[in-house]
Amino acid sequence: MTLLFKVDNDRGLAWKNLFQRHAPDIDVRLWPDIGNPEEIRYLATWQPPPDVHLLLPNLQAIFATSAGVDQFDLSCLPPRVEVVRMLDPGIAQAIVEYACFAVLALHRKMPGYLAQQRQRQWHVQPWVAAHQQRVGVMGLGNLGMAVLDRLRAFGFNLKGWARSAKQIDAVECFAGTQQLPQFLGQCDILICLLPLTQDTRGILNASTLAALPRGAKLINLGRGAHLIEADLLLALDSGHLEHAVLDVLNDEPPAANHPFWLHSGIWLTPHIGAMTQPETAFEVLLANIRRHQQGQAMIGTIDRTMGY
Ligand code: GLV
Repeated sequence: MTLLFKVDNDRGLAWKNLFQRHAPDIDVRLWPDIGNPEEIRYLATWQPPPDVHLLLPNLQAIFATSAGVDQFDLSCLPPRVEVVRMLDPGIAQAIVEYACFAVLALHRKMPGYLAQQRQRQWHVQPWVAAHQQRVGVMGLGNLGMAVLDRLRAFGFNLKGWARSAKQIDAVECFAGTQQLPQFLGQCDILICLLPLTQDTRGILNASTLAALPRGAKLINLGRGAHLIEADLLLALDSGHLEHAVLDVLNDEPPAANHPFWLHSGIWLTPHIGAMTQPETAFEVLLANIRRHQQGQAMIGTIDRTMGY
């Protein structure tokens, strides 16, 4: 059984070592040394090579090394190729850390206090208790659920929104386009953790941002393409939105003259929310390969019609 990794060198070697140690029956190859392409059954990658189904004629599954699969052109892949998202517990842990950091920083008004420091101002802003802070999560998959779970411990007033109805302990849940405005109207802090699909592309736009309460804050941990960047600038500059914490952008890295770099209402990080670590993701990947070998359904297989 042959598994090809197309990842950066260091991580490729780490994956290969793990397989050699714990699953030596699986022949691991590292791109671009693919050997006989007909032997390759599995591909693990963030960015597949062009025309992957022609290059690897016996490919049976692509394992994304990411939580998102929007980088794959699913329409080009033959139906026999299953596409599997990475459900690495390490990714969830890292996203939880970032989301908690950003929510706490916004809840405790850190952007304003840091600006005050630069101006030598020692000034206490009005206090908001956690239960008065409404924090909404868009996207209630494994990442959204993990984030809500941890935020609950701080006592925030939690809201959730997803495509379909969900029931989550101590979280007021909303579903579908119809309930989106109602959800947004109750989010003082909004976290985007949606998958990027045809339905969610540009979902953070002038009209949805306008539906947020005045002074709301945005955290984007999804994809840059969820957000219409010009609309965010207008919402910030008009004072409707107070601050945005963005870990993802349309163009990564953004151009040197991109207005987000120096905007006082934006904190920007270079897509560091989470990164799959072979050490934590190995067990998940191996378990899925074993399932596939035994003819069982793999965990995280995406539904091509939904795109996630
Ligand atoms: C990173 O953005 C991921 O999808 O894992």
